[in-house]
Amino acid sequence: MKALLIKNGCLVDSCGEKKLDILCVDGRIKEIGQNLKCDNAEILDADGLKVLPGLIDAHTHYHLVSRGTVTADSFAQGSRLAVFGGVTTVVDFADHNRGMNLVDSLNYRLDEMKDNMAVDYSLHQGVYGHGFDDTIENQLEELKKQGIKTLKIFTTYRETGYLLEDCEKLARLFRCAKKLGMLVTAHCEYNPMIEEISAWWKGTFLPKDHADLRPAEAEAKAIAFYGEAAFRENCPLYIVHVSSEAGLNEIRKLRKKGACIYAETTPTYLFLDRSKLEGPDGPLYVMTPPLRTKRDNEALLNALANGEIDVVATDHCSFTREQKLSSNDVRTVYPGIPGTEEMVHLLCNYAMTTGKISLNDIVRLTSTNPAKLFGLYPQKGSFELGSDADFAILNPDCEWTLSKEYLHSASGYTPYEGVKVKGKIATTILKGNVVMNGGDYYGKKGCGAFIRQND
Ligand code: URP
Ligand code: ZN
Ligand code: ZN
Repeated sequence: MKALLIKNGCLVDSCGEKKLDILCVDGRIKEIGQNLKCDNAEILDADGLKVLPGLIDAHTHYHLVSRGTVTADSFAQGSRLAVFGGVTTVVDFADHNRGMNLVDSLNYRLDEMKDNMAVDYSLHQGVYGHGFDDTIENQLEELKKQGIKTLKIFTTYRETGYLLEDCEKLARLFRCAKKLGMLVTAHCEYNPMIEEISAWWKGTFLPKDHADLRPAEAEAKAIAFYGEAAFRENCPLYIVHVSSEAGLNEIRKLRKKGACIYAETTPTYLFLDRSKLEGPDGPLYVMTPPLRTKRDNEALLNALANGEIDVVATDHCSFTREQKLSSNDVRTVYPGIPGTEEMVHLLCNYAMTTGKISLNDIVRLTSTNPAKLFGLYPQKGSFELGSDADFAILNPDCEWTLSKEYLHSASGYTPYEGVKVKGKIATTILKGNVVMNGGDYYGKKGCGAFIRQND
């Protein structure tokens, strides 16, 4: 029996907080209460610290092979840096590989992850236009049997074959997902609008132009179009990385009609704006959808506070400075930026310096809600007895500066360089094992396990 006793910490879940001890045995929560004792248990004193359920980054692209290159953070590096951000589970993406069906694509990705992941993991399975055929229903049933119930579609990227726009195929996908209890997630940028803008565009294609080439209206139109298509089949739809007020407004309209729409945003769209795209470092901030205006930041922050956003995740998709700066043309800059390690620190800082959201909100947005939506609850995202003993232990008083000097992404930069924050993850625990304490790493490549998504 392996036991860990966390003493005197303040437990924070999505509803409240209370000073209690937690006894973890063989990787699970065994007991929660006052003055707990256990002979032979390793003791961790969490006095003065906040103990959160392990965080979930529900949108990562570690080891993404794309556009003739591969992202900077491999599975091993991505999952290692995750623990410095209190993240003990990630939901990454399996591409729909050309020439492979969905189950083979899934297994291909799982094989790559197996001996490398240092945190627990699940996957969203991509369903791309190029591979969509008449066997879709059987393929989805098989995926479900393999423990995957979340799917990912793209409303853009015709050139890569990802785009799924055929209305009959969409209806079929939503019908089948509904029948099987699967959740479709969508990257929303309306492709016809983006193609039309590029066709008449007479300006430059510099990073500063990115937000005009892929405007908020394209996000809004895609949310309206795909949201309607899902609603017609009575199927829920989860919008990944909502970036704009216009997008939010479409979500509000759909919800008002009775559609079940879930909204995810990322720290990027909460805390960075398009002014970052100007100047020589502009390529470092290129991602899709592009950065928007300060007004969009405000609208999303308000939506975070009033409960309209369901999940915050990062879309961590890191390239090195050299990869990013190898082009100044947004048609060829590798899109994506790092963020898993920064997420909790930016959110805690916002909570503690503005009071507009609470630590309970952060737990709800980055642990409990993603666990529930992606079929990981109550194994993850919960302090229930029997849940995995995964914890992010926060020192709320530590003030520090986000900088590549202290962060762990192989990208060699952080989009938040120089940002001063209050609150730091002091310790991360994965299934009863301390994997990070005081900045020292104790995790092991391959110690993360695949978590099946339940109903
Ligand atoms: O630019 C981004 N976000 N790259 C990652 C892939 C995606 O579209 O989410
Ligand atoms: Zn995306
Ligand atoms: Zn993404």
